[in-house]
Amino acid sequence: MREGQATAIHRADYTAPAYWIDTVELVFDLDPAKTRVLNKMRLRRNGDVAPQALRLDGEELNLARVLVNGQGTSFKMDGNQLVLENLPEGPDAFDLEIFTTCNPAKNTKLMGLYVSNDSFFTQCEAEGFRRITYFLDRPDVMASYTVTLRADKAKYPVLLSNGNLVEEGELEDGRHFAKWVDPHKKPCYLFALVAGQLVAREQRIRSRAGKDHLLQVFVRPGDLDKTEHAMNSLMASVAWDEARFGLPLDLERFMIVATSDFNMGAMENKGLNIFNTKYVLANQATATDADFSNIESVVGHEYFHNWTGNRVTCQDWFQLSLKEGLTVFRDQEFSQDLAGSPSARAVKRIEDVRVLRTAQFPEDAGPMAHPVRPDSYIEINNFYTVTIYEKGAEVVRMMQTLVGRDGFAQGMKLYFERHDGQAVTCDDFAQAIADANPQSDLARLLPQFKRWYSQAGTPRLHASGQYDAAARTYTLSLTQSCAPTPGQALKDPFVIPVNLGLLDAQGQALPLQLAHWAQAETGTRTFVLTEASETLTFVNVDSAPVPSILRDFSAPVVLDYAYTDTELLTLLAHDSDPFNRWEAGQRLALARALKAIQGDSDLAQTPVLDDAYLDAMRQVLADPTLDAAFKELVLTLPSETYLAEQLDVVDPQRIHAVREAMREQLATALQTQWQQAWEDNRDTGGYRPDPVSSGRRALAGLALTQLCVAARRSGDTVWPGKAFQRFKDAANMTDRFNALSALVISGHELAAPALSRFHALFKNEALVIDKWFSLQAGAPDHGGHVLPAVRQLMTHPDFNLRNPNRARSVIFSYCSANPGAFHRSDAAGYVFWADRVIELDAINPQVAARLARALDRWKKLAEPYRSAAREAIARVAAKADLSNDVREVVTRALA
Ligand code: PHE
Ligand code: ZN
Repeated sequence: MREGQATAIHRADYTAPAYWIDTVELVFDLDPAKTRVLNKMRLRRNGDVAPQALRLDGEELNLARVLVNGQGTSFKMDGNQLVLENLPEGPDAFDLEIFTTCNPAKNTKLMGLYVSNDSFFTQCEAEGFRRITYFLDRPDVMASYTVTLRADKAKYPVLLSNGNLVEEGELEDGRHFAKWVDPHKKPCYLFALVAGQLVAREQRIRSRAGKDHLLQVFVRPGDLDKTEHAMNSLMASVAWDEARFGLPLDLERFMIVATSDFNMGAMENKGLNIFNTKYVLANQATATDADFSNIESVVGHEYFHNWTGNRVTCQDWFQLSLKEGLTVFRDQEFSQDLAGSPSARAVKRIEDVRVLRTAQFPEDAGPMAHPVRPDSYIEINNFYTVTIYEKGAEVVRMMQTLVGRDGFAQGMKLYFERHDGQAVTCDDFAQAIADANPQSDLARLLPQFKRWYSQAGTPRLHASGQYDAAARTYTLSLTQSCAPTPGQALKDPFVIPVNLGLLDAQGQALPLQLAHWAQAETGTRTFVLTEASETLTFVNVDSAPVPSILRDFSAPVVLDYAYTDTELLTLLAHDSDPFNRWEAGQRLALARALKAIQGDSDLAQTPVLDDAYLDAMRQVLADPTLDAAFKELVLTLPSETYLAEQLDVVDPQRIHAVREAMREQLATALQTQWQQAWEDNRDTGGYRPDPVSSGRRALAGLALTQLCVAARRSGDTVWPGKAFQRFKDAANMTDRFNALSALVISGHELAAPALSRFHALFKNEALVIDKWFSLQAGAPDHGGHVLPAVRQLMTHPDFNLRNPNRARSVIFSYCSANPGAFHRSDAAGYVFWADRVIELDAINPQVAARLARALDRWKKLAEPYRSAAREAIARVAAKADLSNDVREVVTRALA
């Protein structure tokens, strides 16, 4: 096997490190082909652990010299580990010096030290530091770092590392150096260096506590005009964490650096965050509203890690959600707080839940399902998942629901009082939140609540209601269950916070009163389900209620309730909870979609949507009291992926055909309202990426697409003409890209000239060219045209498989985000997928393993898709020298 033995690592096997590393002094002589690294560490034995050899991790390193206390020493290699057996005995600290070289120019995995656009970058999480030097590469070993960088001054004028710059100067032969000292101890996965030709936007700020800080955003020369939004987001993040959680910036200098070659979104290295350019660079000409809002949340996310992740880090990688779930929760709250109005907050919540349901729920039901705190893994890179991140965030959110917003802030305070500077576990976090709220349901139910960390799978919450008019009582029965997941056949009941309200048939709120309550309550109440089945009996109920269950999506579960259309229409029109209003609209669409998918009617003859649904959507669109952003969400049909998850047997072509038919019907039947929505929202004035104006652009964009779709039906050329005009004249990328998408989605012949014009306009903007690729690879399939187009795109001079953003823009947009085009009855989509997984694996296993997951749900597919998919996966699995990353994914898929 290429990367040593693929053996599983188990959480239960955790033992403390045999040695501590107190200080690290690194000296880098940076050179693309051969960088020299001198690593001088001060170590001591961990007295709590039996004396044993020191085993240091290393990967793709050339070892030149090892010195102990300045003297040569014997050592041996055991696979990738450097083993030192003759170390000084006793508790005293000793020096260990290791001299190695590595080849950053050849590092296509983008882990460790690599070159991108002639600059040096590092990526160390999770296990990349071992590709820089031999080390105890585990998060519970925390050391103080001093780093000296030496490089050619003309080629690499900027030299950065964590912490504070303490010295810089000239060397011989046109070289120079910079010395950085990080005042905080850290695990090695938070180490970073950057060297290259970069320029910075700078901002000085003073904190609430009166401390001065320098904020810097480093980019390539020429990109400085795209850094204002990232800087604003960073300033907002600093202010928010102080205001909401009392957590200040603990560094004099905080740096963000952007690189166009990056495996993930961004990385929270202490004081030196490294970002994918996609989450830094934006101006109105090149970035969409979605880009602006992603930048805000990713900048926030990485900044918030400074406390949740860096000051308090993970004991081991099984605890990954300790930092990631919590930090996603924090960035979601940040974005909601910045959004402001209740409606804008709800829009953000709906968007987050949509991600959870379309990506995490399938993961939790598939071969890669794992608990938020996994029990074993083969390759840790495969566990940076939507479960660890998004479901982990939902678990933290439920804690906040159970202890209240203030109680949660108190819990965070206690967490830092107890654990600042430590490497801890998910248990430590939950314990702190509970201990700070001793009277809460969380404290009372903590061991059971923690099943959210240990049990995989999405629970189903089954609800049914019964109204007794004579007794004026309403009984709501709640039952929970959770399907088996790999390695977990039976599940114990979860603690499920159920936010509930009752409406009467006119949509008025009904008071809530359980039999033993002294008086009725109005609004939303949280009921905590702990048993497999429970019944709530409400008294003094004047009329048959419509239950609004799981308001604001109070738990990450699937809710089964046999709503009638009438009930859903009431909720859609009147619920005080915007999330459940949206949800009611989705349920109405879902019911119709499922009926059509499961039937075999000719879609051209039998319309999928009825007047009840169309009238309701008409009303939403015309409602002057609703925000545009909310309307756009309601009028967007459930995705093909979401529809597929609701079915036991999936025919992707039927799903695609039904959804396209629904889109067309909605377009045609609501033409007048779409035109009005377009007219009302097409002009948002001077560009600002705020929730109100971006919501209006989103609705105008949807309207334009729908008008072009309707035009395809009727043969009318007016709207495609208007879309083309808009595409040419647009004053910002959101409007321009929406107009281009309208032409591509509707399959109009003007799409081709618009696409080539778009390319010509933005040929020097890599992130815009990514959009250009992605739009074409993700386009609705008309007669199988997308796959040949994708193959063609891969021969385009701008295509580059080595650049993850570009590879994703073409290959992932097709394989992972375009089910109707990917699942072809001739299996050609799967053949393409297998070839790309194998090809990418030789370059970048992390990216290849993500692509490998595109067929996770193959077992649900109907024939002929199922057999063809299995064959493609088996072909990948049969390759002899796969990476551990891809091997783990395909092995689990076939299990
Ligand atoms: N820790 C990063 C984040 O979520 C993600 C990441 C993981 C980046 C691994 C690179 C490598 O903020
Ligand atoms: Zn993170």
